[in-house]
Amino acid sequence: MPAPNAAAAGQFIIAGESTVNRLGFGAMRITGPGIWGDPEDRTEALATLRALPELGVNFIDTADSYGPYVSEMLIREALHPYRGMVIATKAGLVRTGPEQWIPVGRPEYLRQEVLMSLRRLGLERIDLWQLHRIDPKVPRDEQFGAIRAMRAEGLIRHVGLSEVNVAEIEAARKFFPVATVQNRYNLADRSHEAVLEHCSRHKIGFIPWYPLAAGDLARPGAALDAAARRHNVHPAAIALAWVLQRSPVMLPIPGTGKRAHLEENVAAAAIRLDPEEFSAFDRPASETARAAS
Ligand SMILES: NC(=O)c1ccc[n+]([C@@H]2O[C@H](COP(=O)([O-])OP(=O)(O)OC[C@H]3O[C@@H](n4cnc5c(N)ncnc54)[C@H](OP(=O)(O)O)[C@@H]3O)[C@@H](O)[C@H]2O)c1
Repeated sequence: MPAPNAAAAGQFIIAGESTVNRLGFGAMRITGPGIWGDPEDRTEALATLRALPELGVNFIDTADSYGPYVSEMLIREALHPYRGMVIATKAGLVRTGPEQWIPVGRPEYLRQEVLMSLRRLGLERIDLWQLHRIDPKVPRDEQFGAIRAMRAEGLIRHVGLSEVNVAEIEAARKFFPVATVQNRYNLADRSHEAVLEHCSRHKIGFIPWYPLAAGDLARPGAALDAAARRHNVHPAAIALAWVLQRSPVMLPIPGTGKRAHLEENVAAAAIRLDPEEFSAFDRPASETARAAS
């Protein structure tokens, strides 16, 4: 069988300018437990990253807070100078320990983190920088204004948001074009359908984080198993194929620290679910969750 290639999923053009293959990679899982510190198997994490170009994956999602810093530093070690890849990063959450994430949106802090991501990644400009969370303790216009200034300065090219609703997207668009939105979404968690529809209408990339429900959808389970057997792939690939097929603006970023899992996931790029298979999962989230469990 030929090696899987993310190009088979087709392409998305971020903000009408930066073309990437629609199946990307989430680099949160190349860190330690609780997304804290170094990965347990550093060699395997680096091998996973180094396999991305040959598998056609040219869109990586990371954040200053993954590790913190560990994910960005490993990406640089494995892949700099990146050769046509888009490295998207984020800031706006501080870490006070494993599994702890606290929004901080002070403009001077956001600027510091952009400058530090540039240094860690070895870049002069970040192709896609995402506000990890709007900090409710800081007026959102101050946060958006700081981002607009960094864009004008050339530190960041395109801007994305994360965990936002339609009103927040529209408020941000008064300050800068919103290139992408990264919200939690998978075939068992459809709570952001309205945002997805909005993004599809405005050609804003929709980056569904948690596309495998942190591995739950990759576990053998009745509904996904049958489709996986038919397509001769791992169940994870069926979950990813479904989100890819849900909208042309969808840019999933499944996360793994294991090369073998990466290959299983990239196989999703070539899968086309037939209408019956697609609609089997296209139903209320509660029903889908039951079917997939
Ligand atoms: N914007 C936000 O607030 C936000 C929040 C969370 C995540 N993210 C981003 O979204 C990306 C994806 O989300 P996620 O990593 O939380 O969840 P995910 O992609 O749904 O699931 C990742 C988990 O599934 C396992 N997995 C992956 N492929 C597998 C396979 N083929 N077979 C079995 N298990 C498999 C991984 O374990 P192994 O490592 O063992 O393969 C990992 O624990 C992250 O990496 C990060 O870049 C963003």
